[in-house]
Amino acid sequence: MKALVLSGGAGTRLRPITHTSAKQLVPVGNKPIIEFGLEAIRDAGITDVGIIVGETHEEIREHVGDGSRFGIDVTYVHQPQPLGLAHAVLTAADYLGDDDFVMYLGDNLIAGGITDFVRQFEGRQPAAQILLAKVRDPERFGIAELDGQQRVTRLVEKPREPTSDLALVGVYLFSSRILDASRSIKPSDRGELEITDAIQWLIDEGEEVHSQVIDGWWKDTGKLYDLLEANRIVLDALDPRISGTIDADSEVQGRVVVEEGAVLVNSFVRGPAIVGRGTRLVNTFIGPYTSIAHGCAIEDSEIEHSVVLEETRICDIRRMEDSLIGKQVEVGLTTRKPRAYRLMLGDHSRVGLV
Ligand code: G1P
Repeated sequence: MKALVLSGGAGTRLRPITHTSAKQLVPVGNKPIIEFGLEAIRDAGITDVGIIVGETHEEIREHVGDGSRFGIDVTYVHQPQPLGLAHAVLTAADYLGDDDFVMYLGDNLIAGGITDFVRQFEGRQPAAQILLAKVRDPERFGIAELDGQQRVTRLVEKPREPTSDLALVGVYLFSSRILDASRSIKPSDRGELEITDAIQWLIDEGEEVHSQVIDGWWKDTGKLYDLLEANRIVLDALDPRISGTIDADSEVQGRVVVEEGAVLVNSFVRGPAIVGRGTRLVNTFIGPYTSIAHGCAIEDSEIEHSVVLEETRICDIRRMEDSLIGKQVEVGLTTRKPRAYRLMLGDHSRVGLV
């Protein structure tokens, strides 16, 4: 059994962060999202892992390397254009050969790993096994209709008028029949070869497609709110650890990680929260569900329910919430006259001022 991790795509829904970074490398709880998937794959005993990369291939390669750090052996497959998930499968045809594989979308997070699903697939040997999750916004996903016996009857990609609230989770198990299916379908209205259509092709051909509704959490972190929610879920499971320095005027409360070299000066961190390596907090409050990456400097500020990426400086901000701040960003008050907001924002930035 192999794994195919999809790590291409443009990440349009997380711009401007994804103008410069791959969406799979955005961290939650200070850990790049793709690492959760790679670890779940390794924990299921799969070590032969193909990673589909596109435009952001350099950054992914630099981060994941040969995979040995994660206990896996990585082969990179370049998808020249993001033409759909079934197109990605075809791009990897040589790598996959006749093997069964788990396809894992690199921006998906799933509770409890994938070991049980992999074992079930190996036991039953269907042509495909899909995971489904109940969602409130099915129009954002591929959806599945089931019959009375819980068999999949129909799959539709991003239906305008959904007839089911069961979304396809971004973790799929396939036999090599999915290659035949992917070769047989036509591009969708959005111009992509949809994996949803390829699985429908298997159903139409009378192949066994097994489905399972998961009851744990699942997150496709492609959008800001989902990313913040994934950050919450991951921080809730944090093992508290203080490896940095907390001065006599500072306090941490609850589930908090302060990483090596981080310094708290007259600051208060209320968990669940994580303060990254070498980050300095001065006269600052960090509230629940906040991840501050490494090398940041935060002074005279209050931040809660937010994700701040590395080497960012935040100064004199009375209250920041529900925010995702990129790398090496500077946010601060200015005393310069005339009193005004002075902004330099990347394309697709979003700012909420009070
Ligand atoms: C893709 C699939 C969709 C699935 C989703 C899960 O959507 O096409 O069927 O429900 O991943 O994350 P995309 O992220 O390409 O919009």
